[in-house]
Amino acid sequence: MERWKGRVALVTGASVGIGAAVARALVQHGMKVVGCARNVDKIEKLAAECQSAGYNGTLIPYKCDLSCEEDILSMFSAIKTLHQGVDVCINNAGLAHNEPLLSGKTDSWRNMIDVNVLALSICTREAYQSMKERNVDDGHIININSMGGHRMVPSADEHFYCATKYAVTALTEGLRQELREAKTHIRATCISPGIVETEFAFRHHNSDPEKAAAVYESIKCLKAQDIASAVTYILGAPPHVQIGDVQMRPVEQMS
Ligand SMILES: NC(=O)c1ccc[n+]([C@@H]2O[C@H](COP(=O)([O-])OP(=O)(O)OC[C@H]3O[C@@H](n4cnc5c(N)ncnc54)[C@H](OP(=O)(O)O)[C@@H]3O)[C@@H](O)[C@H]2O)c1
Repeated sequence: MERWKGRVALVTGASVGIGAAVARALVQHGMKVVGCARNVDKIEKLAAECQSAGYNGTLIPYKCDLSCEEDILSMFSAIKTLHQGVDVCINNAGLAHNEPLLSGKTDSWRNMIDVNVLALSICTREAYQSMKERNVDDGHIININSMGGHRMVPSADEHFYCATKYAVTALTEGLRQELREAKTHIRATCISPGIVETEFAFRHHNSDPEKAAAVYESIKCLKAQDIASAVTYILGAPPHVQIGDVQMRPVEQMS
């Protein structure tokens, strides 16, 4: 991770869960991390924790609603003005709504598409353009996918969500091909976790917190820190190594 010291990473959805753990790990490794989400106060708290822990890097909180393209473009413009640009983009923000294909609300489907697919694609494009205009060849785009991007779970609660994650699988490989075509050495990777204990299930089953708690109590789940370790492993690989997908499940997970 030595070569990333002082370089700029954007982590989306850095307020809680996996994004917060990834942001913390990258700051610990000396990176300048722009962490964005809607609940910016939580990122400010994390930034203060990183500072009092004496980490080498810094965490810069940025308030951004990723379902709004204007917000995303303003964020990239602010990063350019204040920190030159982005060298690493971690597309982490994502969510599931409990809306089956036969009865779900269109607005909820749209929100999943907006955050899980479109925001990821807009951030990827803007991050690439930022690297290109500064001749950054050693850059990395990491998408937080899901095991739900590789196989359908037999649960109507998750079908539309899985469809958005299948899109992330396709977008990551498409990106790898376009980067190669563009003759850059910027790399594209995704991480596909099984169940990770975060706020995710509580947001997914927001009308049924007991169901959410049961998800995390049923087995020994992955921790957000496990995904952060995968991120530092991926970034720590030499520049000629492109890790495609890290699939990681809790040992006790069934599907
Ligand atoms: N937990 C799991 O079991 C699991 C498994 C596989 C994959 N994943 C994937 O891992 C990623 C992170 O999930 P997590 O488990 O850490 O979930 P989480 O604890 O619910 O955190 C989700 C993050 O996304 C942000 N976010 C959601 N909507 C946003 C919006 N419109 N604008 C800006 N930020 C937004 C949230 O920030 P604000 O609410 O503050 O805006 C929050 O920081 C997601 O892509 C998820 O699909 C999770």
